[in-house]
Amino acid sequence: MKYLVDLGSDLELSLAELITVYPNLEIEVVGKNYVIAEAENWDYKEAIHRLAGTRRIGELIFEGKNFEEFSLSEKIDFNKVPNKINYSINNFNLNNENVKKFRKKVLKEIKNQGIKAFLKKPSHKKENILSPSDFYKKNVDIELNLIKSKKMCVFLTKCVFNHGMYEKRDKEMPVKRYSQAISIRLARIMINLSSAKKEETLLDPFCGVGTILTEAVLMGLKVIGTDISFDCVRDSRKNLEHITNKDRKKFNIIRSDAKAIAQTFYENKLNKVAAIVSEPYMGPLIKEPLTFKEIMEIKKKLELLYKEFFFSANKILKQYGRIVFITPVFIAQNKKKFHIDMYSIIKNIDLKIVNPLFGIIKNFEMPFYYKRPDHKIGREIWVLQKFK
Ligand SMILES: C[S@@+](CC[C@H](N)C(=O)[O-])C[C@H]1O[C@@H](n2cnc3c(N)ncnc32)[C@H](O)[C@@H]1O
Repeated sequence: MKYLVDLGSDLELSLAELITVYPNLEIEVVGKNYVIAEAENWDYKEAIHRLAGTRRIGELIFEGKNFEEFSLSEKIDFNKVPNKINYSINNFNLNNENVKKFRKKVLKEIKNQGIKAFLKKPSHKKENILSPSDFYKKNVDIELNLIKSKKMCVFLTKCVFNHGMYEKRDKEMPVKRYSQAISIRLARIMINLSSAKKEETLLDPFCGVGTILTEAVLMGLKVIGTDISFDCVRDSRKNLEHITNKDRKKFNIIRSDAKAIAQTFYENKLNKVAAIVSEPYMGPLIKEPLTFKEIMEIKKKLELLYKEFFFSANKILKQYGRIVFITPVFIAQNKKKFHIDMYSIIKNIDLKIVNPLFGIIKNFEMPFYYKRPDHKIGREIWVLQKFK
């Protein structure tokens, strides 16, 4: 069976997440934010809950030279459809003429069944694809997705990512994330990229208020969080107690300098972990764009911190364990970008940079880049693995 996987705004990151969690999918990269995935049996309902980078999954219901032979009633049992419906047609890469014709044909077919149908369009006029929030707000009953690949394809939407769940969870946390902090969505993508399995242990050595840890617990992992700040240890403990109903078997929060993480594990008699996932300390809060000199000073300090951390962390990571780690990208007054030199940080440490998209996206090189318009710094996301 073929599926459309709509990956939203971060194609590379979301695609890497998809194939890390579902390595058996056969992927055809069609457009800049979606792929066609082929699998015999794919539990797409589980996938939409598990993945944070995927916006919608649709099942192929038609493939042909053109849409003339397409018939919706062959694919949908109209006896089960209410007599008033909202529907939408997403155009992924077709010209408008083709879409107009298709729309007319579908509307005629629905009307012939004695059903009143209302076409729901994206709130933003320039968009051709309904956003997940529009999909839920506009109560869409049937959604069709048009894609031109080798042939003309129609995919029927089966499930759509529900961001409301994340927002609700965020609101209910006893201690909230600060404004520039990592989003729940990115935290979950990073945990998925770590390949950690249920019941395994994940460490966040710069745990802050515990965004990554709470998400990991919800995904069935056990977690250890450490932070140098007493306040953060207290805050993430509160959040973890909330999310686990105070189940102490699921989490452990300790105060520690990340540079001495191996020593902390030794003193607390902790076992090696399967994965380390973290957004570390990334320098002082930036209000105004920095000068070259300021950036160089911060960058030097951070590179030293990360180097010492990786050296220590490598000792408490299991063989084949992964580290998924964010580093900042500083944007100077003249808009020039400055990156953390990961290659020299891990030069003498037994960690290798993994490229999850190797062989899938030509010429793609790690790391992933991630920046939201309201963020003052960019983020690079690295996937490292210990092979020895
Ligand atoms: C960007 S925040 C982490 C956000 C966190 N990953 C989350 O999911 O909410 C960085 C954290 O690093 C902590 N920190 C700074 N220097 C540290 C060090 N040397 N060792 C451990 N934690 C440190 C700070 O107290 C802060 O809580």
